This record gives sequence, C-alpha cells and structure tokens, in this order.
Amino acid sequence: CASTHISALPQEVMVRLFRYLGPEDLCRCSQVCHAWAEVVKTGLLWRHLYPVRWARGDYYRGPPGEPDQDPDEDWVRNLQEEGRAYQEWDEDADVDESEEACEDTLAISAVRKEKKLLNGMIQNLLPAVGSSVRTLSLAYSAAVSSKMVRQILSLCPNLIHLDLTQTDVTDSAFESWAELGACRTLEHLDLSGCEKITDYTLKNLSLGLGDLTTPRLSKNSPDCKNKLLKTPPSAIKLLDKHSGYSLGRARTALVFKWRPGGRSMSCSPVWVLDPAELADIEDAADWTRREGVAGHNEGRSGILGVQAGGRSCCCRMMRSFRTDIGSTYLQQLYGTLGEVQCGHSACCSSDTALRTVKGAQCEPQATGGNTELWTKCPSEGESRTDQSGACRALRFLSLSGCYQITDFGLRCLSQAGGLPLLEHLNLSGCLFITEVGLHELVSVCPSLKDEHFYYCDNINGPHADRASGCQNLQCGFRVCCRSGE
Ligand code: FES
Repeated sequence: CASTHISALPQEVMVRLFRYLGPEDLCRCSQVCHAWAEVVKTGLLWRHLYPVRWARGDYYRGPPGEPDQDPDEDWVRNLQEEGRAYQEWDEDADVDESEEACEDTLAISAVRKEKKLLNGMIQNLLPAVGSSVRTLSLAYSAAVSSKMVRQILSLCPNLIHLDLTQTDVTDSAFESWAELGACRTLEHLDLSGCEKITDYTLKNLSLGLGDLTTPRLSKNSPDCKNKLLKTPPSAIKLLDKHSGYSLGRARTALVFKWRPGGRSMSCSPVWVLDPAELADIEDAADWTRREGVAGHNEGRSGILGVQAGGRSCCCRMMRSFRTDIGSTYLQQLYGTLGEVQCGHSACCSSDTALRTVKGAQCEPQATGGNTELWTKCPSEGESRTDQSGACRALRFLSLSGCYQITDFGLRCLSQAGGLPLLEHLNLSGCLFITEVGLHELVSVCPSLKDEHFYYCDNINGPHADRASGCQNLQCGFRVCCRSGE
C-alpha cells in the first residue's frame, strides 16, 4: 500500500502532534522546513511561557500553579545566586571589556542563555504568537530588563497571568498598559520584590484595566439604541476609495459577551454606519472634543486608538509608532478582533472603504439592513463593563517589598470602579502607605479575602484583627520595617 509522507498531513493534524512537544523540541522542528516553521508559530502552542525555567532545562509549559503555592526554596536560592554572579560578571565586563577573559561559570552561562532566549522570543516568536499568550513568568530573572518587559507586554496584549517577582524592572516597563490599554485581561500580577516600582506603575495599571464608571446602557432601556446613535464614543471619517469623497459618519459601538464563570470577557468593537447621516462629517473632530474617546482618558486613543478624523486614527497611530513592535502590536490586536482593517480607504487595501470589524466571539444583534446597529448591552447581574470593554478582572496583586508605593498609588487603583474581583492583596513592606490609603482601596475590593490580605503590622488598617499581617517579617531579602529586629 502507498505510504503517506508526514509533510502531506493537514496543518491541523500537525498542530495536534506538536502539542505533545516542549518548547525546545518545537524550536528544533521549526528548523526542519518552512512549512514546519509556520506550524510552530501557531498561538495554541505558546499559551504559557516560562523562559527562566526553560533556560535551565525545565521545559514545563502548562498553566501556572496555585497563587499561594510557595516556590521551591532551593530553586529560588539558586536563581538568586546566579543573578548575583551574573551582575558581578557584567560589572567587571564593563570595566575591562574583555568578555572572553571573564570566567564563564555555570551560573553566568545560565543567565546568558536566558537573555538569549528572551531576545529570541521578542524578535522571532512573540510577533507571531503574542496575542495568544496567556501566562508569562519571569520571576527571579536576572537577565530581563525593563525594555524587554515593555516589548513583551506590547506584543502580548491578552495576558492573564504575569509574574515579575524579584526582577529589576522599573516603571517604564509598563508604559504600554496606559497607552494601549493592553492589560484588560490581566487577572494575576505579581510584582513582589520589584523595588524600583513606584505609584506610576499603579497609575498605568489602573488606566490599562479600564474604567467601570463610564455610564452604561441597559438592553431594557428604550433609549439604548438611540443613545448609541446620538452619543457615539468616537466618530470615524469614511472615504470612498476611488473618489475620495466622504461617505458619512461611522460610529464605534462595542459588542459584549459575558461568559458566566469564564475567565474573561470578550468584547470587540463594531463600526456601524448611520444611514441617516450620509453626509460630510467635518464635525467629527468636534464630536471627539465633546464626547471624549473610547478610552477613559480624555485625549487618549483608547483600546483601539480610534479618534475622530483629523486628530488621530488607528492608522495615524500605527504610523506614529517608531518601532516595528508598535505596529506589530496593533496588527495583532486588530487581528484578534477580526480584521486588520480600519476602514480608511487611504490605508486599507480592500476595494471597499467601509469595513465592519467584528470579533470572532461576538454575537451581533442585527436590526435590519446592511448598515445595522450591532449592540448588546450587558444585562443586570452581568459583570460591570464600560463601553471600551473594561472589566478590571484583577484577582491577585502582590506588591510585597515595593517600598516606594504610597497612598497615591492605592488611590489610583481604587478609582475607575476599584478592583471588584480582587481576592488576594499583598502590601507587605510597602513602608509609605497608611491606613487612609488602605481603607480607600479596601472599600472598593468587595471580594478581598482577609486570609489573603497582607500589610505592615505597624499600620492599624482595615480588617486589622483578621488580615494576615506582614509577610516579610521572616523573609530576609524583602523590605520590612522590622527586619533586623
Ligand atoms: Fe512593617 Fe513588615 S513592613 S512589619
């Protein structure tokens, strides 16, 4: 009987086979041929990334463990020693610049391997699969820099779990969160031991999580449709590709789908054309000034970077990015929503200038005609979300040892709807916070569990008799006001 060569297998079958392979084997497979290299770049194969472990021969790639599960002490100690050795080597190398002359110990080579792996991921893998990544753990990494984290976060806008424990990152690592709204799906954020973090990071985090206080419309409200028609979050100028004449005014609306019990809410923007207003729309810029934009920061471009004509649009934003990574990020973000098109004839390659951007998981509610209004307002009892898709889904937040955090940072988190799903909050070693900031934050965290709530023993804050107190008393390497006692 005739045999079938493996190259004849359909791509879906190849993906299924590759799911049994670890990251190292997948990298080897990608070197076999172009076809296999394309299969390896399937997002499904790269959901959970653990580059620190991979650089040391541990190729685990399943979901993260339980949040309260302590890491192996020996493992952590080894990583810390490696980090120290690498730093000393790096400093010496700066002085005499004789890299070869330095002693290349096992510890140093592990960190160098990790650095190489991270650079490879940023340059080759994440531009292709970043939007599928859900977990990223860089805990105890001595090789990762703020710039690397900034690039990774820009390329991975749909992260659910981010662990940067005991890394050297600074506030600049998180700039994309506020600028691009790139942490809306985040549920777990561990910044334990990141001593350079300040309130600025919390401000960016809060901006990135979105705003739940934006007025929302109930589907039972008779004004639901009219309100969407009369008060669009933004207006987009549509031009005929061939003549260049204006076709009319497009509005952004959002389709929400809440999956009860699910891990995240999916939402996608839909552009609709109001047939009653097929006219020139030179007042579009004025709309934006009056109505604000989809994001909750006035003047900010929101999750899609869409603003009224003349000021900014996704395309302009795309062009304004100085690096390929910025463009790639937007392409991926649009890609996850359906199409990499904005609707402007000047920058879309399709024959038709009018596009409808639709997410794969959305459920449109058609109202008739070709220019239908696609809306679905969250009903009572469903998760609170704003028109830009915010759900502030954070469940775990650790800022243990981030001693520069103040009440201002806590206030940033407590605004825009607070953190309604937060269960675990670790503020041990945050030396500058007070009971005022704690009370303010806790008052908007109804899901917070006392046994998972940690802060300095010297503060007489909320739930003082039931909260778990400071976790850094016995730690030895994380900031605590009682260390040395
Ligand atoms: Fe005060 Fe640890 S920070 S007891």
